[in-house]
Amino acid sequence: MPAKKVCIVGSGNWGSAIAKIVGHNAKGSNRFDPIVNMWVFEEMIDGKKLTEIINTEHENVKYLPGHKLPKNVVAVPEITEAVKGASILIFVIPHQFIGKLCDQMKPHITQGTIGISLIKGIDEGPKGLKLISDIIREKLEIEVSVLMGANIANEVADEKFCETTIGAKNEANGHIFKELLQTPNFRITVVQESDTVELCGALKNIVAVGAGFCDGLGFGDNTKAAVIRLGLMEMIAFTKLFCKGQVSSVTFLESCGVADLITTCYGGRNRKVAEAFAKTSKSIEELEAEMLNGQKLQGPQTSAEVFKILKKRDMVSKFPLFASVYQICFEGKAVQEFITCLQNHPEHM
Ligand SMILES: NC(=O)c1ccc[n+]([C@@H]2O[C@H](COP(=O)([O-])OP(=O)(O)OC[C@H]3O[C@@H](n4cnc5c(N)ncnc54)[C@H](O)[C@@H]3O)[C@@H](O)[C@H]2O)c1
Repeated sequence: MPAKKVCIVGSGNWGSAIAKIVGHNAKGSNRFDPIVNMWVFEEMIDGKKLTEIINTEHENVKYLPGHKLPKNVVAVPEITEAVKGASILIFVIPHQFIGKLCDQMKPHITQGTIGISLIKGIDEGPKGLKLISDIIREKLEIEVSVLMGANIANEVADEKFCETTIGAKNEANGHIFKELLQTPNFRITVVQESDTVELCGALKNIVAVGAGFCDGLGFGDNTKAAVIRLGLMEMIAFTKLFCKGQVSSVTFLESCGVADLITTCYGGRNRKVAEAFAKTSKSIEELEAEMLNGQKLQGPQTSAEVFKILKKRDMVSKFPLFASVYQICFEGKAVQEFITCLQNHPEHM
């Protein structure tokens, strides 16, 4: 079997952390081509192209400063060039850019190519919910697995121990991805319920925004725990209502479920920006630009997609936490009212 060539589509904070792992594993295995392409959305940093900096200094100085990337990871600015000859694609970009990028990639995809999405977010289609993996599957006509878990990028890059979950409808693909991505400090469980895994990854970012509101309003650990629990109940209910395939409660006990929810409600960027939102009168867009140095927030946008879906099905009242996050971020509802939505939650009625 010829060695499989890998292309990482994306090079932000998570994309660069995962490039460290993939570069290292590809170099040490004869199943994979040792040269790993990484598509980089080109930017100028102090008068130099980001791709040139990565290829000479082996560091993504903007999105993962302080970490060397393996030298066999090659930054490529043209997506059509980056995917050439690749039979494994790792998608790791903010979800709003995926459709356009897939359209550019399509003519260069060869038969038998497989993909894995690390992207957290959802879209809304004519039939309601649309997963990011669905968009990739439909546009590129390839099999797509997902990887989601309690994986804050900087900690993974620091090689601090964590777990993650691969959701793969095709078990053999799941095991190829496990071989490519597992390390002693990045332990992987493969499950078949891919759609549930993916929805966990998307929905927990909305809950994290709620957790950030509570921090900004000065509430304590008990309140945070309640937000996490009520958020989890809404995540499970939403997934059971809108997922096409089977949804088992045990999947929520994997790293992609409870573990990711906890880490995001304590450590992630959604929580951080939402805390600042509650403490200042600035908009989410202003804070994203001010606080994240080009990184993108997923929680508020995902709450907007979820709200549209709930409204269409007349189910807003059954998901007060999700709905309030949207209304506070985008409709001028007072952030102090977030607690009212928790006090009147259907879980207590
Ligand atoms: N960072 C984490 O800890 C983490 C962990 C797990 C999953 N994720 C998920 O991974 C995905 C990617 O996040 P990230 O942290 O790698 O990115 P990021 O938010 O750190 O960086 C934003 C990226 O978007 C790129 N970009 C900007 N404008 C663009 C455009 N017009 N078209 C295409 N790309 C553009 C930038 O070059 C940059 O690479 C997201 O879905 C995120 O939720 C992130």
